[in-house]
Amino acid sequence: MAVLRAQNITKAYGGVTALADGALSVEPGSVHALLGENGAGKSTMVKVLSGTIRPDAGTLTLDDRPVSFNSTVDAVRNGVAVVSQELNLFPDLDILANLYPIREPKRGPFLNRTAMAEAAKPTLSRLGLNVDLRTPLRELSLGQRQLVEISRALLTDPRVLILDEPTSALDRDGSDRLLGILEVLRERQVGVVFVSHILEEVMQLCDTITVLRDGRTVLSGAERKDLEIDDIVAAMLGPRPEPSTPSEPAPRAAAQGGGRLRMSKVSVDDVLTDVDLEVEAGEIVGVTGLAGAGHLAVLELIAGLRRPSSGTVRLPGDRPVPRGLRRAIAAGVAVVSGDRRGRGLMLDQPIWQNIGQVRSIGLSRDGIVVRGSTLRKRARTHVESLRIRCRDVDQRVGLLSGGNQQKVVLAKWLDASPTVLLLDDPTRGVDVGAKAEIHELIHKAAAGGAVVVLASTDLDELASACHRVLVFHRGRVAAHLSGSDLDQHTIIRVSNTGVLV
Ligand SMILES: Nc1ncnc2c1ncn2[C@@H]1O[C@H](COP(=O)(O)OP(=O)(O)OP(=O)(O)O)[C@@H](O)[C@H]1O
Ligand SMILES: [Mg+2]
Repeated sequence: MAVLRAQNITKAYGGVTALADGALSVEPGSVHALLGENGAGKSTMVKVLSGTIRPDAGTLTLDDRPVSFNSTVDAVRNGVAVVSQELNLFPDLDILANLYPIREPKRGPFLNRTAMAEAAKPTLSRLGLNVDLRTPLRELSLGQRQLVEISRALLTDPRVLILDEPTSALDRDGSDRLLGILEVLRERQVGVVFVSHILEEVMQLCDTITVLRDGRTVLSGAERKDLEIDDIVAAMLGPRPEPSTPSEPAPRAAAQGGGRLRMSKVSVDDVLTDVDLEVEAGEIVGVTGLAGAGHLAVLELIAGLRRPSSGTVRLPGDRPVPRGLRRAIAAGVAVVSGDRRGRGLMLDQPIWQNIGQVRSIGLSRDGIVVRGSTLRKRARTHVESLRIRCRDVDQRVGLLSGGNQQKVVLAKWLDASPTVLLLDDPTRGVDVGAKAEIHELIHKAAAGGAVVVLASTDLDELASACHRVLVFHRGRVAAHLSGSDLDQHTIIRVSNTGVLV
């Protein structure tokens, strides 16, 4: 018998139908994957199941009795907990306060913070979050914040746990641990709903699969063992040609006079030791490693967000790195981040203003004011080439689905035609089709003469989109992979051991 069941759910926002006929049934002790392209309606379904929004029509039953949740707090009281796609945490409060946002402090067993901390510890350490609980949330990485949100949901001891893209911000270690926890939940008869774009992971851990397309349920609670990844992709995309997957990066473009990026003997205290890196115009170089291995510091050094303690970093044309991000942008550096809430977007502003933002920073320094109509027109071409799903370019970015917001982040940086393109998990939360399209755009930027440095936790992305990959281990370059050496297993092995053979 299903614990929680949704049937015939519809939800429209203005003229946009987010869900037309949504159905999902959560069984105890079972993991149900909810899949679909960016904008298909997955998060809308999650919000209905967790009391975040009320559907326009349709029924929700808990233990076969009709229910309607007034709020997420109400849903939690009924045993339904959610980890939402865009994290809902308080950046200025510490970890502990974030773990117990809805417990009234004067009631129940959690009278004081010590007791709360004790109660939280086993869950936190299972997830590998071994940080002082008094640390303010804003000091945590995106992956760590994700773990806090997951812990918070687990601590409510739910009967139904809904996870909206829980692993997209986690490194490999974090997602392995989460997958382990799902096993425990299965044994405890918790029903899990799991939203993800990482189909290999889905196949590994779920029992049943529902696929939404344009707000409709096109595959409903099918058994995973009866399906192949290709069947799922076909259901997601529907009757339209499959996107081409550029499994091979385009041959490196002839450098168009852009010159090369050069780091020599760069060290940063406690972070990097003696790193050499040269990237030619037209080249896409991947950097990766476990959390804290130093690969992200490389991006920060090139973006002017960090200074080396010794050694030199030179931009193409043998220019020094300017101080601060604003000046770096004016010097043609772009920084695409997967953390779109943190530093990516102005959520209250329309799509066209977000897309035009970076380029305007460069131009306004020269005293040039760009007209709104021009920006709108440019934004429209990006919306088309990235297939950003929206009503029009005047729509507020905050109203787009998660993956479509990520595409806007990419568009605004590409709009500035950068000469140095730095990418940190650029396809986080983006669906399979759009991922291939984004990789194509990155190749185009490189072919146009940009230097590209790509940090990613997605092994497939590193192995397929990069010409070569530097694997970092404890602040040093442990291996330089290209050609037949460049494969996912080698990347994992070197990231963990620090040696190539
Ligand atoms: N508050 C809102 N106002 C207007 N439109 C909305 C709102 N929330 C969602 N939508 C629209 O509803 C549709 C479905 O969005 P939803 O967030 O459910 O997609 P999703 O399947 O979760 O996608 P993703 O994989 O990108 O997270 C999208 O077209 C989105 O723009
Ligand atoms: Mg979503």
